Amino acid sequence: MSSQIDHLLNESRQFPPSPEFVAQSIDDPALYERAAADREGFWADQARELLHWHKPFTEVLDWTNPPFAKWFGDGELNVAYNCLDRHVEAGIGDRVAIHWEGEPGDSRSITYAELTDEVRRTANVLADLGVGEGDRVAIYLPMIPEAVISMLAVARLGAIHSVVFGGFSADSLRSRIDDAGAKVVITADGGYRKGKVSALKPAVDQSLADRNGEGEQQTVEHVLVVKRGGNDVEWTEGRDIWWHDVVPAASAEHEAQAFGAENPLFILYTSGTTGKPKGILHTSGGYLTQAAYTHKYVFDLHPETDVYWCTADIGWITGHSYVTYGPLANGATQLMYEGTPDAPHPGRWWELIQKYGVTILYTAPTAIRSFMKLGRQIPNEFDLSTLRLLGSVGEPINPEAWMWYREVIGGGETPIVDTWWQTETGGIMVSPLPGITAAKPGSAQVPLPGISIDVVDEQGNAVENGAGGLLAITKPWPAMLRGVWGDPERFKETYWEKFEEQGFYFAGDGARLDEDGDLWLLGRVDDVMNVSGHRLSTAEIESSLVAHEATAEAAVVGASDETTGQAVVAFVILKESFLAEHTPEGLATQLRTWVGEQIGPIARPRDVYIVGELPKTRSGKIMRRLLRDVAEGREVGDTTTLADTAVMSIISAQVK
Ligand code: PRX
Repeated sequence: MSSQIDHLLNESRQFPPSPEFVAQSIDDPALYERAAADREGFWADQARELLHWHKPFTEVLDWTNPPFAKWFGDGELNVAYNCLDRHVEAGIGDRVAIHWEGEPGDSRSITYAELTDEVRRTANVLADLGVGEGDRVAIYLPMIPEAVISMLAVARLGAIHSVVFGGFSADSLRSRIDDAGAKVVITADGGYRKGKVSALKPAVDQSLADRNGEGEQQTVEHVLVVKRGGNDVEWTEGRDIWWHDVVPAASAEHEAQAFGAENPLFILYTSGTTGKPKGILHTSGGYLTQAAYTHKYVFDLHPETDVYWCTADIGWITGHSYVTYGPLANGATQLMYEGTPDAPHPGRWWELIQKYGVTILYTAPTAIRSFMKLGRQIPNEFDLSTLRLLGSVGEPINPEAWMWYREVIGGGETPIVDTWWQTETGGIMVSPLPGITAAKPGSAQVPLPGISIDVVDEQGNAVENGAGGLLAITKPWPAMLRGVWGDPERFKETYWEKFEEQGFYFAGDGARLDEDGDLWLLGRVDDVMNVSGHRLSTAEIESSLVAHEATAEAAVVGASDETTGQAVVAFVILKESFLAEHTPEGLATQLRTWVGEQIGPIARPRDVYIVGELPKTRSGKIMRRLLRDVAEGREVGDTTTLADTAVMSIISAQVK
């Protein structure tokens, strides 16, 4: 981290938007002024301007029971109606909502009118299956239009979706289904990834099998299956239903009911500092307000002419807020792509931008860095001149990648918005406004109008410009998480206890303010790693490692990695009996595969080091800082607080 900080300290370039960009931009400095003058009034205006309320709200924020907020509490709306029907009623039903491209090259363009029909049919099917207000539906799908349709159909009924990333294993899916008590699972036979069909239905079958253990209840009544990959699947009669047997036959008449603004919209599981993933809970009115507001102003959206593309998977928060809810609430036209960037050829993304005339691209630094590695000759083969704005999300973007993105993808002219936010914040919190802010490569810069953020010291005091500290959100915001599903204590402890006195939300990120007061994000300060913009917890991977019969003890750290930002590095002590019968190399390979199977390929450690001991303090806490030094090939730092100060030289020698 320190080399990164040194590097960032020397970054002083600035790129104001061009006069042409400013002239056409919807961003107006008055937004900052209005928000500063009356924060809650500002949000009320956004909620009224951007959404349709079946029943208007009279109260903006109820913060009488912190940290449990209510936004627009007495208002009523239907989230799906806001994303669909009202656009059709306003006469833009013929506008394309989604240009979808499958990895093998098949494609569909779906208008707002068609999408509205599809969602109504699907809502009717789900209602027939018994899904109603407050019920949970798990969605485990590839990046196909049915993923967005399913989310909106669930939302339309006032039910709660829990989207599980298609790259997660059956075990991960199982724990998420169980924690939420899902009634229905929506999945597909498979989806295309890197030229092959990667199966999904078998993982659902496995996650629902063998429920004889104590407290193991089967809540799932039905599995709705989209045919995508053409795989043969096993079928459980009475439980499993083909999408194509029921959705096209269902009625496209469905009246959207109004639900309270605080009606839960979704649960999304994310990694924390313990082994158990937490179900982040988001509700309706405030969430949709902030998703629409940020999507409009951060991306300077011109819905009549823009073709917007967010490359995130629907299984992450970025896919929720900036594929489904923000763009559709704003009536935008977007591109959705099923596959990986390099299939069937490494220029696939650039080919798609050329084909659809994409104007706004929102992606992650890890993708940009892997394109940098392949070289500019690949994007240079395509016409990218329609791009007018680029966005970045998920981890700090290093200035080199930022410059490459602007030069090579943006033709040296496009503004870049580096957007900081989290699963918990629901929407973008810190970002330049592209028509106003002079961008600095590597800095997320300033809180958006209406958002209050400070960099504070351990005591919660705001630091001066030029100093570093912890990122805290100092005032409630509309899209804030409303809790951790089924665990209010964990919600309070994780996010609110650290700055309880001040009532600040602690984000878990380190940050510094430069001399101009711009924010530079410095990565996590807790035991959460960021691999390719995806959050993983050290504890989660450690518990997977120790669940393997060969492992006695394990410690996991995130080590910096040129492409993925951080990589998972594991230090493992094996049981004597296994060492006698296996080679350390063989066991290391087995353990990598094991974690991949238990959690998902993204969690698979880059390196597994078999060691004899782990560095611990006198109270038995593993000192991950020292292991990180070893993993990153640095000289090992201060070891004086270790119970056994010699242990690090032994570990270093073993790793070598
Ligand atoms: O550490 C920050 C990093 O990603 C974390 C949130 O991860 P997740 O909930 O998975 O959401 C990712 C997509 C919003 C943050 O705590 N992070 C996200 N965006 C940035 C970032 N770090 C630096 N700069 C960013 N723009």
